[in-house]
Amino acid sequence: MKLDIFTLFPEAFEWFRSQRSVVNAIAEGNELRLFNYRDTTPLSAGQVDDAPYGGGAGMVLRVDVVDAALQAAYGDRERPRIVLLTPTGRLLDDELADELTREPHVALLCGRYEGFDERVHRYLADDEVSIGRYVLAGGELPAMVVADVVMRKLPGALGHAESAVEESFSRVLEGMPEYPHYTRPPVYRGWGVPDVLLSGDHEKVRRWRLEQSRLRAEEFEKGGK
Ligand code: 6GU
Repeated sequence: MKLDIFTLFPEAFEWFRSQRSVVNAIAEGNELRLFNYRDTTPLSAGQVDDAPYGGGAGMVLRVDVVDAALQAAYGDRERPRIVLLTPTGRLLDDELADELTREPHVALLCGRYEGFDERVHRYLADDEVSIGRYVLAGGELPAMVVADVVMRKLPGALGHAESAVEESFSRVLEGMPEYPHYTRPPVYRGWGVPDVLLSGDHEKVRRWRLEQSRLRAEEFEKGGK
């Protein structure tokens, strides 16, 4: 898939881009591109925002600036699914991540300041996505969260082909949290590892893991720990 990110801070994504799952996904033929609204602004002196009509605090990202960035990237060619990152958007979960992963081309638009001019929401965006009910300073961290969950689902992004399939909240686990993992040493400060995991009986291990996922799901329903 092609994933485009529009932002005023493309340099904030450098670390993200170097992550193994992202490097792998790109090696498999996927694309991650960054666009800076400032590079294509039709305004002078790199201006991208303005004071809100009607007064009030903060600045608003202008609709002409966002439109120019999309026009520069896509021209009159077919548009990707355009997703605005905004605190009031649809809450990101595994299902939404699957939905985005199935798209051949997605654009994530990061806002800053007080957000986007309302006309960006109304006329330019297809979807609005939030990563939780709290307000962050900008859409860059949410964009990385969305890009991370989407890209690691792409074939070949993870070393082990199965690892994104059977994990917490996935369909394979019936939407349940993942079972607990243990590794060496078998005993540390008197803290042991469940005997079944050391038994070598794969069927018993499989049943134990499913049961643990169920127990965790129950805990999760009650509000979690
Ligand atoms: Cl997508 N943006 C901002 N600014 N804050 C958020 C968010 C997005 N999701 C949760 N908080």
